[in-house]
Amino acid sequence: MASTSISSFLRVTLIATIMLAGLVALLLMFHQSFPSPNCHPPPAKKDKPLMLLWFWPEDKKFDFQDCKTLFNMDGCHLTDDRSLYSRAHDVLIFHRAIKDDLSNLPTSPRARFQRWIWFNMDLPNNTRRIAGIQGLFNLTLNYRKEADIRVRWQLTHKRNTDEDFVLPKKERLLCWILDTEDLDAKSGEGYKYFQKLVTHIKVDVIYTSSGEFLNGENYFQIISSCKFYLSFENSVDRDYITETFNGPLAAGTVPIVLGPPRSNYEDLVPGSSFIHVNDFSDAENLAEFLLTLDKDSKAYERYFDWRQFYNARRHPTEQNREFAHAICQACQDVGLKRVYRDIPDLYKGFMQ
Ligand SMILES: *[C@@H]1O[C@H](CO)[C@@H](O)[C@H](O)[C@H]1NC(C)=O
Ligand SMILES: *[C@@H]1O[C@H](CO)[C@@H](O)[C@H](O)[C@H]1NC(C)=O
Repeated sequence: MASTSISSFLRVTLIATIMLAGLVALLLMFHQSFPSPNCHPPPAKKDKPLMLLWFWPEDKKFDFQDCKTLFNMDGCHLTDDRSLYSRAHDVLIFHRAIKDDLSNLPTSPRARFQRWIWFNMDLPNNTRRIAGIQGLFNLTLNYRKEADIRVRWQLTHKRNTDEDFVLPKKERLLCWILDTEDLDAKSGEGYKYFQKLVTHIKVDVIYTSSGEFLNGENYFQIISSCKFYLSFENSVDRDYITETFNGPLAAGTVPIVLGPPRSNYEDLVPGSSFIHVNDFSDAENLAEFLLTLDKDSKAYERYFDWRQFYNARRHPTEQNREFAHAICQACQDVGLKRVYRDIPDLYKGFMQ
């Protein structure tokens, strides 16, 4: 009896083992024929939209690879080859290059999936109103907060918060780099303020002209050698915050800003990273405050507390890369914004 029960026990175990093995084999086969999408993502390249740059802004050409190497942006395939027009998902059109009679815009019919992007980096006052472009575009690209694709210099989160920020050596108190060929720079509110300021405090003005443009190293070196830098925008407009503000942040210098209200800057950076001229009743009060900070290194260094958590990226200063950031940003965002829409009144949203 005992031997029969042992052999029947063995038989049951054997059958169970075979069945289990079969089940495992089936599961394996099933798994292989239906790979989970998480384990085997499709090649990313295939999914990237194709973006056609219709005009090179001001003929300033750069290498499209810069998007990846300078800004870590590569959300699309960029091309300037107009023969790819019919296949392009997005067409980036620089407003200032459009002729009044629209004769240099694409003429062949638009594919159903294709979107035109209105690309304008000028201030509303400097933006030519072109009759007939209303109702042509699907997305906007400019510096405004409400643009579909907004161009701005942002801080990046620091990966390694143990890396200490080292304040660059300071040789000058207050500096300003002024482009002698930029007429706007000498007519605006900023220049008037500067003229008042210099009667109370020494300002090192470094003149440059578009002809002998400072290369990246010089530009950031000069700014980093100053404790404060005049980040005066040529025109005061909502959301108009340019490289003149990013420069000192990236160089390790405190920007003194003149531009949109403080709250507008605080959308981009911590409020304790800069000084706003509106924080003071006049230029004399600001000068006094800067001279006090000059003697109080503890108080001065507090302007860099944000450096524990964020980095500011250097912007390219080469002239041919003037529009690279905007173009790369568009490339980065089109893949994420697969919205379909049209903009019946282009100017209404921007020119106010
Ligand atoms: C636009 O021009 C008007 C009138 O000349 C002026 O009052 C306004 O400040 C300008 N705006 C900008 C953003 O330059
Ligand atoms: C883009 O805008 C045009 C003009 O308003 C419109 O005819 C077209 O359907 C829009 N396309 C997409 C993809 O949104």
